[in-house]
Amino acid sequence: MALQTLFPSLVSTTWLEKNARARHRRNAELVQECYQIETSDLAGQKWSQKNYMGGFTSYASISHLDQFSSSFLEIKNRIDPLAKQFAKDLEMDLKGRKLVMTSFWLNIMPKGVVHTMHIHPLSTLSGTYYIQTPKNSSALKFEDPRLVNFMASPPRKAKARAENQRFISLTPEAGQVILFESWMRHEVPPNPSSQDRISASFNYDWV
Ligand code: NI
Repeated sequence: MALQTLFPSLVSTTWLEKNARARHRRNAELVQECYQIETSDLAGQKWSQKNYMGGFTSYASISHLDQFSSSFLEIKNRIDPLAKQFAKDLEMDLKGRKLVMTSFWLNIMPKGVVHTMHIHPLSTLSGTYYIQTPKNSSALKFEDPRLVNFMASPPRKAKARAENQRFISLTPEAGQVILFESWMRHEVPPNPSSQDRISASFNYDWV
């Protein structure tokens, strides 16, 4: 019997830089900067209290970290070619239009903070750069985009191959970039670690 895999959902994981020492140094510096941003971003604190209980996000206040900080600009410049490559891997026909990073924001998740299932509406590609991922901190959990159609389809075995699972949890490491199409539903379950999970997320639009 010939089996084919149809309609795959691609997710890409890449080290922002290959040299482990360089990325540890970069992230150690970034952690300091992230807490400085949190302390100084009063609008972000206020917004987070209402919309990101227990955590901090600059999503609604500093949504262009790359225009705000030279270290985040450097990260953006390294993510740009990865986004381009990912669009190539997806065989997207961009019709001469460009993929442009349209937002880039900070997330600090102390213990217990959750980011429930969501998509990134109106964007093309989305993703996250991981700055601090303590042991046992939350995964990034994706939902099978076809879930709504399954009706009476039986569940899959607990140990089924990744491509047959209904949910997949990735465990990102600090220094990695994860990219996916913006319509893919995903969540960050409650952070079980007593240390903060720190990341910066972004969207690319097709303009
Ligand atoms: Ni998201």
